[in-house]
Amino acid sequence: LVLVIDFGGQYNQLIARRVRENNVYCEILPCTTDIEVIKAKNPKGIIFTGGPNSAYLENSPKINKEIFEIGVPILGICYGVQTMAHTLGGNVRRGNNSEKEYGKTQITYSESTLFEGISTNTVWMSHTDLIDVLPEDFKIVAHTNDCPVAAMENTEKKLYGVQFHPEVEHCLEGDKIIKNFLYNICEVSGDWTTDSFIDDKIKELKEKIGNKKVLCALSGGVDSSVAAVLVHRAVGDNLTCIFVDHGLLRKNEGDDVERIFREKFDMNLIRVNCEDRFLSKLVGVSEPEAKRKIIGEEFIRVFEEESNKLGKIDFLVQGTIYPDVIESGHGDGGASTIKSHHNVGGIPEDIEFEIVEPLRELFKDEVRKIGLELGIEEGLIFRHPFPGPGLGIRVIGTITKEKCDILREADAIYMDELKKAGLYTDIWQAFATLPDVKTVGVMGDERTYAYLVGLRAVTSSDGMTSDWYKMPYDVLEKISNRIVNEVDGVNRVVYDITSKPPGTIEWE
Ligand code: XMP
Repeated sequence: LVLVIDFGGQYNQLIARRVRENNVYCEILPCTTDIEVIKAKNPKGIIFTGGPNSAYLENSPKINKEIFEIGVPILGICYGVQTMAHTLGGNVRRGNNSEKEYGKTQITYSESTLFEGISTNTVWMSHTDLIDVLPEDFKIVAHTNDCPVAAMENTEKKLYGVQFHPEVEHCLEGDKIIKNFLYNICEVSGDWTTDSFIDDKIKELKEKIGNKKVLCALSGGVDSSVAAVLVHRAVGDNLTCIFVDHGLLRKNEGDDVERIFREKFDMNLIRVNCEDRFLSKLVGVSEPEAKRKIIGEEFIRVFEEESNKLGKIDFLVQGTIYPDVIESGHGDGGASTIKSHHNVGGIPEDIEFEIVEPLRELFKDEVRKIGLELGIEEGLIFRHPFPGPGLGIRVIGTITKEKCDILREADAIYMDELKKAGLYTDIWQAFATLPDVKTVGVMGDERTYAYLVGLRAVTSSDGMTSDWYKMPYDVLEKISNRIVNEVDGVNRVVYDITSKPPGTIEWE
């Protein structure tokens, strides 16, 4: 295990990723973590991340000095090396205008285990402060024109630090620096793979759950599906999955979930068909947040009713993944609610089950890899994200079954054409929406007055920001023609070219 100690930098997850890519398991902990907790984890190495503060200011994040005495190798990056220098008696100060470095920078390396095998000299800098006096027993092992201490080390105490960012792509051979730190300094074995993850996790789940009963709210999304299959591998029929089909799903989605989990994986699956129940609650409701609230609450009610029928349940499986953990740990508190995503499709807050989160340590692409290894089909693993309230927020305004059916057909054609054109996996998320708008058209000399379908496709890495996808015209043309010709009730198609911000990905 390698610990990444978080000082609030923007590349923290990237550092964790780089470590994982070397088949070394790692966790991110806030810098405020008690030193005893850090020691108890028995890490083989520790990495301090960057951060936006100045190490010499009183209110900046600090680290307990004891960490430098436990004998575990430490690599400080950017703020991480500055806080190391400051804590150990060196001096950090604000650079004057010519000393600040941003972006690609030429560097001169001296001999150090950290830089073994590196033949280039371009790094990625992003700093205003700099170290101008080394702590005792440290030596400089790299410098640039403007930065006298671009890297420092105390090999005896195994303390290392770099002012630049070896974790970013633009830092040439940065991966070698991380490798050198992990393999040559921390001397880790690098045997953490998805295979070993599956075996270890199944063993751990077996021990934890034993013969007790486990419940899973299966949505058909990647995370809950992989979590469910993993737990099923460990405890078999002691797992029951509840799949609430609220009638706001994509075409064939409910049947697919049934086919995959009940037929292929032979799992205990309860599919609750409650389209009428949800649609009747939603009659006449057009405000997006009101719709989300109704769908979310009704979901919880259905889930509770079904789980009550099962008698005593001890555990509840959740598909929480690592970015969720980190994001909630950092909860910025002051953020305004743009959309109440996380209240939807959730589970009751006052539950009495113990939560099992088998994917808690994994990034999305690792979850996908494990899903494939567990034998879940690619169509499900690589499916675009789908919101909990489903078509409820893609039928704009009031919802009816007729509108949902029209939208399902249009969306299915859209996805089909994207897949045929080989574009589906280039796109983060694509979907059709049905605004509450009818327009006039002409078909076979006849006047039509029918719905308008909106198409959206975006690229993004996390859904927080996104750009509209530059869809080839011929593909758009084909999709538009097919939708207008094949979907009754639609006579016009438009393509959304708004980025986020200022738009959001969904229209509601
Ligand atoms: P927005 O529309 O906020 O969407 O740009 C960002 C991502 O979140 C998804 N989304 C939701 N997911 N419940 C969910 O579970 C919701 O209410 C919800 N609203 C948006 C959206 O599909 C996109 O992936």
